[in-house]
Amino acid sequence: MESDTVLVTGGAGFIGHHLTSALLSQGRKVRVLDDFSSGTQLPAHPLLTVIQGDMSESSVREEALHQIKSVINLAAIASVPLCESKPELSSQVNNLAAQELFKDAFRLGVSTIIQASTSALYGVPNELPLTEKSPTQPIGKYGLDKQKAEQSLLSYHQHPVCALRLFNVFGKGQKRGSPYSGVLTIFSDNISKKIPLKIFGDGTQSRDFIHINDVVSAFILCLEDLENNGIYSKVSGKKFNVCSGNSVTLLEIIESFSLFSNSEIEIIFESPREGDILHSLGSFEFLNNQIDWEPSENFIERIRELL
Ligand code: NAD
Ligand code: UD1
Repeated sequence: MESDTVLVTGGAGFIGHHLTSALLSQGRKVRVLDDFSSGTQLPAHPLLTVIQGDMSESSVREEALHQIKSVINLAAIASVPLCESKPELSSQVNNLAAQELFKDAFRLGVSTIIQASTSALYGVPNELPLTEKSPTQPIGKYGLDKQKAEQSLLSYHQHPVCALRLFNVFGKGQKRGSPYSGVLTIFSDNISKKIPLKIFGDGTQSRDFIHINDVVSAFILCLEDLENNGIYSKVSGKKFNVCSGNSVTLLEIIESFSLFSNSEIEIIFESPREGDILHSLGSFEFLNNQIDWEPSENFIERIRELL
């Protein structure tokens, strides 16, 4: 009997919790592979199984990939500064283990794979907004390793695959109290605890923040299209920006938070972070043209609920 199970690597992480929950609510069987290096326990569900293990180990991959229809590869060291300080770990997980996963998956009969790629691939942009045709010139270890993984997956032309270049994902459920979380989680956590915010640089750097609900819907729509249409899917063999099409500076974010906070927000300015880009803004036109995806969440409403 053909399997209908989806393997979500890194499924215990921030994006993984939301994606897994959405797949389960559609009645899909989900297997999560996670080493819990940054992930947290998932709520039990009759259609969910969890394997705790390191994706870098071949025996772990073998077990995780047994009778799997599709794979969504989220497992990664997702923090830019952590990859800069631990480059070997970044190579190991973000590049090598991902490439081994793809190879083993197709050998073991997996049909479809989606890779969580990143806008960090673009590096310092020549012009904004970034489209999928913009040059990729990553400036840090994280972006370089994620680029190699993306290239590896998209070289499997004979299989239905795609890569989603996520911009800065935000929403409830990202690990609080960790210096390796995204800036919106760190800022909202510090504001709630009345701890000063640290800005690396002068605060004029900008990011295109995309809400987790919109990211989950992009993964699900692409998965359905790939599973239904195989290599004839409109997304097969392609990479797509998943972004809001708007960018905000850190100073603007703090101004927005201050609208909802009762106490004064204290800011400490520190030197810019190594491997940081200044501005990021994407266009989602390509994914919109292929499968009608568009972001639907309102930024201000959604950052309010982070506090
Ligand atoms: P996260 O750190 O919350 O999740 C990553 C998960 O991978 C964690 O649960 C971690 O325990 C697991 N993991 C790490 N190394 C592993 C290994 N060797 N074996 C098995 N599991 C391992 O990060 P996230 O924000 O949920 O990001 C998910 C994916 O999306 C990553 O691939 C990241 O590069 C990508 N991405 C995230 C963002 C963002 O803004 N959050 C933006 C662009 C791309
Ligand atoms: C984020 C993601 C990365 C993803 C990329 C896509 C996380 C942890 N990182 O990286 O996985 O691939 O988007 O674009 O989700 N900053 C401060 N003070 C802080 C924290 C951050 O000033 O306390 C600054 C940083 O220096 C940076 C900006 O805020 O200029 C955004 O940082 P961060 O949230 O870590 O995101 P990215 O590095 O863009």
